[in-house]
Amino acid sequence: MKAACRQVTRDGKTLGFVATMGALHEGHLSLVRASKSRCDVTAVSIFVNPLQFGPAEDLDKYPRTLERDTALLEQLGADLLFTPAVEEMYPRGAQTYVAVEGLSDRLDGASRPGHFRGVATVVAKLFEIIRPDFAFFGQKDAAQVAVLRKLVDDLDMDVEIVVCPIVREKDGLAMSSRNAYLTPEQRQQALVLYRSLLRVQTAVDHGERDSVKLIEIGKQVMAEEREVRLDYFAIVDSDTLELVADVSRGALVALAAYVGATRLIDNVMVTGSSR
Ligand code: PAJ
Repeated sequence: MKAACRQVTRDGKTLGFVATMGALHEGHLSLVRASKSRCDVTAVSIFVNPLQFGPAEDLDKYPRTLERDTALLEQLGADLLFTPAVEEMYPRGAQTYVAVEGLSDRLDGASRPGHFRGVATVVAKLFEIIRPDFAFFGQKDAAQVAVLRKLVDDLDMDVEIVVCPIVREKDGLAMSSRNAYLTPEQRQQALVLYRSLLRVQTAVDHGERDSVKLIEIGKQVMAEEREVRLDYFAIVDSDTLELVADVSRGALVALAAYVGATRLIDNVMVTGSSR
């Protein structure tokens, strides 16, 4: 993979990179399309990264659909596919981790200790192997974007992070590989996540700026689905992930919730400036 990627750079071509854990859906594919439209060559990785899963999480049952993923990427015209084995990425004796402190303990990092250390470590490794000019990530994982931007900034990495919009199903559910875990009934219940975010968005559009009140509105909607258990509902600065009291200067409204055993996340950016 290194040799192939270095050759791209030697040829004077720009290299775009999309990191994934596979079980590809339209959200992932939108990143590949964005890379293709911006870069000469597009590299994709598929690696279910054990380091970012907690001990009680879904590492073992995470969907693995490599053949189908490969066919989709070929159809789309991705140029390079990297699918390393766990032992290849983490040989015995590896002792180096990348931790973006502070940011990694907020939002999903608060509920999933060690998660962002795993993400930052694997992405730093992938960036070093691939050395892309541009790397494409989804707004779906807003906290991940904040952590990775800080990683690149702090370590002076020569890669530009490009953030792409959340791709949703027709009914609003944010696409996720984990949606495959949902029963038809849970799939319906999961719609409450986006519904609650839209309700907050509407309240902001009507002039509400107070985060405490907006969170209250969002939580009330979440409570409409008794089977859905809220993990967090937060209004934060999208770069620092620190709570903001007032959305006048724009804010990230983010939530995580369990639908049955499946943990789902979603978010919207609100702009409070129009009033
Ligand atoms: P994964 O969950 O497979 O997601 C890979 C990329 O696809 C991420 O940048 C994610 O934000 C983006 N993505 C997922 N669903 C999306 C949607 N509905 N709309 C737009 N983009 C979406 O995120 C990871 O993998 C891992 O943490 C990884 C970065 C690969 C490191 O292991």
